[in-house]
Amino acid sequence: MSQAEILVIDPVTPEPDKIAYAAALLRAGQPVAFPTETVYGLGANALDPAAVERVFAAKKRPAHDPMIVHIAGWEQLLEAAADISPQAERLARAFWPGPLTLILRKTGAIPPNVTAGLDTVAVRMPAHPIAQALIVACGFPIAAPSANLFARPSPTTAAHVLEDLGERIELVIDGGPTPIGVESSVVDTTRQSLQLLRPGGISLEALKAIVPGLGTTPHPAATDETRAQRSPGQLSKHYAPRARLVLFNGAEAATLEHMRQQALELLAEGQRVGVLIANEDLPAFDLPAVHIQAIGSKHDLPGVARALFAALRKLDSAGADVILARNFGPDGLGLAIQDRLRRAAGGNIT
Ligand code: TXA
Ligand code: MG
Repeated sequence: MSQAEILVIDPVTPEPDKIAYAAALLRAGQPVAFPTETVYGLGANALDPAAVERVFAAKKRPAHDPMIVHIAGWEQLLEAAADISPQAERLARAFWPGPLTLILRKTGAIPPNVTAGLDTVAVRMPAHPIAQALIVACGFPIAAPSANLFARPSPTTAAHVLEDLGERIELVIDGGPTPIGVESSVVDTTRQSLQLLRPGGISLEALKAIVPGLGTTPHPAATDETRAQRSPGQLSKHYAPRARLVLFNGAEAATLEHMRQQALELLAEGQRVGVLIANEDLPAFDLPAVHIQAIGSKHDLPGVARALFAALRKLDSAGADVILARNFGPDGLGLAIQDRLRRAAGGNIT
């Protein structure tokens, strides 16, 4: 396949003719990459199993990893999901459209390959005007995982999508950088007690203000295997940069000093070292030959979240052998940032 076509669309007021062009491709069963407020998605008609299959193939995504069904209105929710609990409804009313995904009981309208054979379905009503306009123009819900190759950081720009999938899909909508930068929060509403399966764009604090009983630990009775089935994207190593990533936890001053020492040792060994830090940390890392990504003020977590995945990609393309990353604490978007860094570290946590 030749290089994907790039269609620039206004992210605030999408041009209807351009949306119609992309919708026609989706209607014909082709995958299309498009921006949402979190990250770029690779979409297909959620009601067409053959179209969905093309998304799995383009991404090299294992068939056991279910997709999110993106909807534009309440009638589409009822088409995709049944037995919606009062708590699920409260969450939807509070945060939709927005970066929240609800796990619900699925209906027969959703083909089995969308949900990887599960009897539940992940549903989200995105807030991004391009995503909304596209779903409305199609008239069907759009199944979409993040538009990266499996195990690469999620794409927050059209350029990231092209890097991973440029030769594997036909159309990428370029609506500029995504405003949130980490994926949606995923809440399982199908069990006795609500569970946060993936921290994301809506903070745990905001979710708990609506549903105070929300749990954050995997079900104690679940074995590793059933847990993986419940939320396959929870497998560690999901967001893996090419370099080895080490995440530094603990008190800030000691952590930064430890990172600095490690950087010096690794440099002495001849390794190419990258550091992922806050703007405030820059003076401590004024070291020659270190690739530095300062991704925002530690007091501006939305800014850090926006810059996170792009920074991982930049350190990869700089050829870093190892990336030393600081943590940004557990509050607000910090929890999602920590989760993505933990997975990228795949157990390399100091
Ligand atoms: O912000 C987002 O959520 C982005 C944009 C494009 O909407 N999408 C995204 O999709 O991050 P993906 O496929 O990369 O992640 C979907 C997550 C995975 O962790 C997956 O395991 C989980 O949702 N998921 C999907 N269906 C599920 C189900 N039936 N039960 C439990 N988890 C499910
Ligand atoms: Mg993903």
